[in-house]
Amino acid sequence: MTDSTQTAASAAPDPRPYSPGLEGVLAAETALGYVDGENGRLLYRGYRIGDLVERGRYPAIANLLWTGEWDPGYHLPTTPVPSAVMTTLRALPTSAKPMDALRTAVSVWGATQVLDWPPTPEQARALTTFSPSALAAFARLRQGLEPIEPDPSLDLVPGFLYQLTGARPDEGTARALDAYFVVGAEHGLNASTFTARVITSTRSDIASAVSGAIGAMKGPLHGGAPSEVVEQIHKVGTPEHAEEWVRDAVARGERLMGFGHRVYRAYDPRARALRKVAESMEHKPDWLELAIAVEDVALRVLAELHPERALKTNVEYYAAAVLQGVGLTPDLFPAAFALARHAGWTAHILEQAGANRLIRPDAIYTGFTERDLPT
Ligand SMILES: CC(C)(COP(=O)(O)OP(=O)(O)OC[C@H]1O[C@@H](n2cnc3c(N)ncnc32)[C@H](O)[C@@H]1OP(=O)(O)O)[C@@H](O)C(=O)NCCC(=O)NCCS
Repeated sequence: MTDSTQTAASAAPDPRPYSPGLEGVLAAETALGYVDGENGRLLYRGYRIGDLVERGRYPAIANLLWTGEWDPGYHLPTTPVPSAVMTTLRALPTSAKPMDALRTAVSVWGATQVLDWPPTPEQARALTTFSPSALAAFARLRQGLEPIEPDPSLDLVPGFLYQLTGARPDEGTARALDAYFVVGAEHGLNASTFTARVITSTRSDIASAVSGAIGAMKGPLHGGAPSEVVEQIHKVGTPEHAEEWVRDAVARGERLMGFGHRVYRAYDPRARALRKVAESMEHKPDWLELAIAVEDVALRVLAELHPERALKTNVEYYAAAVLQGVGLTPDLFPAAFALARHAGWTAHILEQAGANRLIRPDAIYTGFTERDLPT
């Protein structure tokens, strides 16, 4: 090996363990969400997700995450969009992705606020109630429609639907989307939540942390699959065709959308809760029956082809049915997920700030050893 190609790999190896993707690394303590992948359990502050979906609404869940208190009547209306944000949203191309518009809106919102350290539950509330108004405004502007002011009598989810469509949603529709927001609110130290905690650990502000989290969630490996679930169901076409389609797709090395999970080895409890919601919706998508039939086939085929790996239904499978059933277009699905996750992100930001330590891991250096510049 010549000097110019010699790398640090030839130096003494670092004895510390290396975990690509930080898999299995304990990087924080949290009292917020418990994801029990082996047993298919998800708890928010100790409460089971199934019970929270049945008996809670998103405002109560957000308040529970921020404060630890259970107040089922907690009221959380959406709030107005500051004019600087509205000017920015009007300036965006109508072709902008809703996630880009939301990330931009949160960033501009931050520039209009005094967001002193440490972050507070009031800041968490202000940001969580602003973002639905901003996304609804962008969704209307790109269709050539004027944004709608919040209705303070409505809670966050029906308020968002009202600002999106201009009509107060019926009880069932609001309830279904609220259930989606509840299951999307928190999920441990996933990539976007970790991003929010890293940014907070530098003593940066809550808007910077959440706009970074939205950026992390925008990637398809994290926030991506529900709209692809809809495409997949349409490709299958009929229940009779399901077995052949699923086998061919897996044989081609494709991933079945809405199945498998990095943490869950059991049926995702969020999928179970959302399936119930989807089945009880008044305006269900016409492909829901087909989706249920495809799920049975897919679970059987995946178990046969991957006996070593438990591949079960994940949250995205029935999220697609709920989001389409309430009338959201597929390109709004990732941004709706981001709105729901605001409660969890901001709760983690408060928790990180409450026991802060700058997050600064180390890397194994694989570059050149020390050398002279070429003469
Ligand atoms: C979610 C996901 C990224 C987790 O992946 P992961 O933990 O990294 O799983 P791995 O990549 O280790 O997969 C293990 C094996 O199962 C297979 N597998 C995993 N998910 C699969 C799926 N949905 N369909 C078919 N095969 C799948 C992989 O091909 C791999 O097989 P191989 O070892 O023969 O290559 C993955 O399951 C996936 O891509 N699912 C589809 C997309 C989706 O629904 N995303 C939403 C997640 S909430």
